[in-house]
Amino acid sequence: MKLPHPIPLTSLSTVEATPSGLIAKLLGGSRPEFFRVDAIREDIVRLKISRGGVFDESPTFAVRDDLELPDVPVTVEITADQALVRTAALTVTVGVHPFRIDVVRADGSVVFETAATDTGTGMFGMLSSDGKSFDTYASLNDAFTFSRRVEPDDVIYGLGEKTGPHNRRGLDYTLWNADVLNPNAKGEFARTLDTGDPRADNRGTLFDPYYVSVPFHYHQDARTGRVSGSFVDNGYKGYYDFTAPDRYTVRFDGGQYTEYVFAGPNIPDILEGYTWLTGRTQLPPLWSLGYHQCRWKNYSQGDVEELAASFRDLEIPCDALWLDIDYMDGYRVFTWNRDLFPAPERMLETLAADGFRTITIVDPGVKAEPGYEVFDSALERDVLCKTEGGDVYIGQVWPGDTAFPDFVTEEARAWWGELNARHVASGLAGIWNDMNEPATGNIPPNRMRFGAGAYPHERYHNQYALLMAMGTVDGLKNAMPELRTFVLSRAGSAGIQRYAANWMGDNLANWDHLRVGIAMACGFGLSGQAFVGADVGGFMGHSSPELFARWIQYGALTPFFRNHSSIFNRDQYPWAFGDAVLDIARDAIELRYRLLPYIYSAFVRSSEDGAPVQRPLAFDYQYDATVADIDDEYLLGSDLLVAPITDAGVTARQVYLPAGGWYDWHTNELHEGARHIVAPTPMDRIPVYARAGAVIPMLEVAPQSTYELAPDAIELHVFVPDQDGVTYQSFLQEDDGLTFAANDGMRLRTRLEVTRLDDVLELRVSSDGEAFDGFARERFVITLHGANPVHVTAEGVDVDVVAGRFELPTSLLMGESEVLISMGLEGDR
Ligand code: NOJ
Repeated sequence: MKLPHPIPLTSLSTVEATPSGLIAKLLGGSRPEFFRVDAIREDIVRLKISRGGVFDESPTFAVRDDLELPDVPVTVEITADQALVRTAALTVTVGVHPFRIDVVRADGSVVFETAATDTGTGMFGMLSSDGKSFDTYASLNDAFTFSRRVEPDDVIYGLGEKTGPHNRRGLDYTLWNADVLNPNAKGEFARTLDTGDPRADNRGTLFDPYYVSVPFHYHQDARTGRVSGSFVDNGYKGYYDFTAPDRYTVRFDGGQYTEYVFAGPNIPDILEGYTWLTGRTQLPPLWSLGYHQCRWKNYSQGDVEELAASFRDLEIPCDALWLDIDYMDGYRVFTWNRDLFPAPERMLETLAADGFRTITIVDPGVKAEPGYEVFDSALERDVLCKTEGGDVYIGQVWPGDTAFPDFVTEEARAWWGELNARHVASGLAGIWNDMNEPATGNIPPNRMRFGAGAYPHERYHNQYALLMAMGTVDGLKNAMPELRTFVLSRAGSAGIQRYAANWMGDNLANWDHLRVGIAMACGFGLSGQAFVGADVGGFMGHSSPELFARWIQYGALTPFFRNHSSIFNRDQYPWAFGDAVLDIARDAIELRYRLLPYIYSAFVRSSEDGAPVQRPLAFDYQYDATVADIDDEYLLGSDLLVAPITDAGVTARQVYLPAGGWYDWHTNELHEGARHIVAPTPMDRIPVYARAGAVIPMLEVAPQSTYELAPDAIELHVFVPDQDGVTYQSFLQEDDGLTFAANDGMRLRTRLEVTRLDDVLELRVSSDGEAFDGFARERFVITLHGANPVHVTAEGVDVDVVAGRFELPTSLLMGESEVLISMGLEGDR
């Protein structure tokens, strides 16, 4: 992990101010390099060091290519000892000799400090006059490394999809996209670890590396709770070592040092900045937030139709059916096995008529077989990865000898996009990208080169899935410009959220894997990817009735909700475990569907400011030291707290509720936060709490699918604040759920503000936007939790209260109107 004998760059010379910061010559290595500081936004600076005297301005595809950089006012001060770049939010101080970088906020609090050692021997041996040496930057044979100071109990978050606790402190990680269950992945990484190290067990919950690599992390100062962020824009194999008590060390095996530093100090602002830079999770089509049924199985057309009928017969809501590799003819991508699927178009039409969308898997591996149209056209258009000698690189995946598209080239991405567009024209709703680490089976990937043979494998390995998703999405958009796309990807890197959702790959059907998925999803969420989920029920191995029941209760409250299992398993459909589990599964799925307005609105927010949909408590409560190590609960959106059951036979569990009031979703009991409580966990429910002051929008009844969903009412569940005089805000967006019309204002946004003043509750509702195709809402139906309405007026007019609920007609609330409702309260508060 540690880079042996790295050679430091030790001092600056000829420092010059630039319009956005400074540039300086860096001495000490085998040749001079350049160092640059650029203020990208007031709260974000970019630090760069050249290689061979040249800066790589586009080291990866992570940063949005449509980013418009604001003009950031900077002041630069250069003295003999140091150079300062100052924005309104932060100051970068660069020591001239020894070379050293430190960043503070405007209030003087530390963003980061280069790690120093008193002995004078330091990792890189850069000795200052006071006997300290600084581990600012050193390199050896293309690899580079740096270290930053931390206190023993500081906290680290981020790094995307990683196993173990979401506080990354105490562990080290490798960033190298890996097909986790492939013994080769295990072998390569296990070799560097001691025998018995849990990280070497690819069926355990600490295995590393994983499918997705995101070199973005947060560092929290445990004394103040303040947080800063760091994104290293480098796609090579990377290592983050958070095991030492006084420093963390970062190393990349190649490429250049380009780091974006985020001042914070609040996590939501850092994530907003990171997703401004690398793009946000696109607003998904509404149907993709429904329940998905997947299974690796050699279904026939009749089987799929039967499966669909079972959902409707048993009245289990379901939006999407998935086809794994066996729908293809001999695993040849973009083909159908005509024996199993004689008329796929007709099947897709029949399924659509019943409210089902269908998604097929598309692996990157193309069967290397002359005469197979896709392979022939790839050769003709010269879009396959080559080896150094110019051969087409061949791996061994499902179809045997397999070639790989060279997604680094625009030509290959365009070709792939066309193939995808043609494929979905049969009536498919989305694309599932698997094996895109890229997984090459028993043949190591390292001979696979990119960019028409120009670049070594390591440069783009981690970005392969991102580039594949780019090609896929561009192709789908060309073919269906008006429709939002849906792509699910297994692998990924920084920026994948712009194009695809991620699922967490091949988990095991056991309690440990249910549990580890919670922190993993939170890691994803804090790293820009909001659309995530694990295989509900577990992928490998047989699920048990209890495990499945608990998993579907949890999965229903995660961003991406798909039941998937392996070909070797027992059936894992909602009805496969008997009637009791079927009822539990149906209840869970129905709750998911009723919550769609809330979940969809959380996705709208995420697409605008990067806020995760499934988020660790630390996202909203970073100054509460208790939450850093809570890995078995999370927030769904800003207002629901979910505490899944992660063990068999559990009849009660401890739940930490952060500050504020929290209503038990099932009983309406109000709990005071900033404490642990014990929640009963009978088999029919998992603990869920609503934040006091929140308004949760819901459907009145769960539809069987979101297909042509046009509710005439939305329920607003108002959770009465636990405090007087504090105003709480909630938000609902309604749009067509399918197209981009919402971007042109064809959506209705309702802002809901709740304030309690003794026994009066003020609910201010303000709506803006335009009605869209299919808009049918005629009213809001309002229910209070924590009190009973006795007298309601809307805009001064009395409103009837029936059975504790009342209705507000849409006509009253449309446009820019603002409504004030006063309510006398009585009841159990
Ligand atoms: C590996 C994927 O992770 C899994 O979800 C899929 O079912 C199999 N490949 C077969 O395609």
